[in-house]
Amino acid sequence: MSAKKEAKKVLIVDADADNSLRLTHQLEFIDHESKVLSSHELLDSLGDLADYQAILIANFHGIVDWAKKLTAKHEDCPPMVLMLGNQPADISQPEIEETFIGCLKSDVRYGLLSDLLHRADVRGTATTVVNKEGTQNPELFRSLVGNSRAIVRVRKMIDQVAPTEATVLILGESGTGKEVVARNIHYYSNRRNKPFVPINCGAIPSELLESELFGHEKGSFTGAIGAREGRFELAEGGTIFLDEIGDMPLTMQVKLLRVIQERSFERVGSNKSIKSDVRLVAATHRNLEELIEKGTFREDLYYRLNVFPVEMPPLNSRAEDLPLLVNELITRLEHEKKSSVRLTPAAMMALCNYDWPGNVRELANLMERLTILHPYGVVDVGDLPPKMAPHGRGQSTDDSASEETALPLVQGMPAAQYNNKPRLPRDGLDLKQHLTEIEISLIEQALDECSGVVAHAANRLKIRRTTLVEKMRKYNIQRPEEVS
Ligand SMILES: Nc1ncnc2c1ncn2[C@@H]1O[C@H](COP(=O)(O)OP(=O)(O)OP(=O)(O)O)[C@@H](O)[C@H]1O
Ligand SMILES: [Mg+2]
Repeated sequence: MSAKKEAKKVLIVDADADNSLRLTHQLEFIDHESKVLSSHELLDSLGDLADYQAILIANFHGIVDWAKKLTAKHEDCPPMVLMLGNQPADISQPEIEETFIGCLKSDVRYGLLSDLLHRADVRGTATTVVNKEGTQNPELFRSLVGNSRAIVRVRKMIDQVAPTEATVLILGESGTGKEVVARNIHYYSNRRNKPFVPINCGAIPSELLESELFGHEKGSFTGAIGAREGRFELAEGGTIFLDEIGDMPLTMQVKLLRVIQERSFERVGSNKSIKSDVRLVAATHRNLEELIEKGTFREDLYYRLNVFPVEMPPLNSRAEDLPLLVNELITRLEHEKKSSVRLTPAAMMALCNYDWPGNVRELANLMERLTILHPYGVVDVGDLPPKMAPHGRGQSTDDSASEETALPLVQGMPAAQYNNKPRLPRDGLDLKQHLTEIEISLIEQALDECSGVVAHAANRLKIRRTTLVEKMRKYNIQRPEEVS
């Protein structure tokens, strides 16, 4: 390990002096400062324990009551309590699980001690997150995470288009976050308090799609036992999200076009026109222009939908967002499933170098799987699926990437930190062009970080302001607020 880490404080409460001394030495070895207290002293100092990351405590009479008082006293972020010795027989299993992070037998080894302290750390973060986010709107919680230029641009487009009535067409590969964008558009619109109604046009058989969208009257077709509202009626006043619009059959495309033009529709089996006030957001992973050429998508509908196109970038084009996304997804899992995990720098580096054909959805699935396989644990490269490991199965790329150096959850790390060894592609590359691209990318990042203030960005890049202005002119780089 190269850099000395900041020492974290641990409290030891054990009547056995030898035991306490041994633990003190072990903690010192893994960079944790410790203090020893007797259980009497402990009872007097409930209020002074906020600074401790964890309390290692031997059983004493009334320990569960004491732990409850501790939690009540430090409501926001109570220190985590680890039981020393064997599990006491006089305390029930649920009470043990609720009160203690784990049990430490007397012959504890460094690895286990370190792992348990990591769990304490991660659970501490999870508790804070739950407390902080508990009152937050779940829609906002699922916000569009990322600092890459492409995502900043998408967020700006959402800001611009949300309050208008314009139809939005979201394009992008599977799993890039098209639905997240659609929900954000609705959330930031004036229709926010009305329904957001999604429908996957590709997943519903074509003969049922019309009644799904527009509803039907009783007996209008075999199986139509009663009258039913369609999604357009359900979305009245709000937003309808037509997902996978490229898979909509041609016959339905004509009907949809009519609704857009006339702002009214009829239920299947009825000739009564129903007025509709619904905002349209559509999405597809297909290339609609190609579908038009093939004759499977109507050109007139395309122009009606393509009023305000938003293109979602694939995840492999924005590796710098990966650490942020990983943090967001883990925070979400902590919130929903009360589980967590953390990654070593080597594991994070492997994720930054992976191609992500399934985009953010693939990353979200991986994070969920990791929290199941390693609850509150530390994941290294060898724990990742083999296709993500850089040099074959189970090879850690960094020997120092042990569990002690696992990344804190709240840290957003630039991809450059992980990608510091560029690889020469098999077919070689145009070095000049490649270096220019790197230069442009770093300049853009510096400008983004400094909110477009050129003088500050020049400082970040350690070049003169005039040199930066010159380069921006040469490469036609705009400041972030000029991007439209
Ligand atoms: N920028 C982001 N920030 C946070 N979460 C994201 C982001 N992008 C995608 N996600 C998450 O990734 C998953 C996939 O996103 P979403 O369903 O919006 O993708 P999609 O483009 O509609 O995919 P598909 O084409 O497969 O339907 C969801 O769990 C979503 O919450
Ligand atoms: Mg989708």
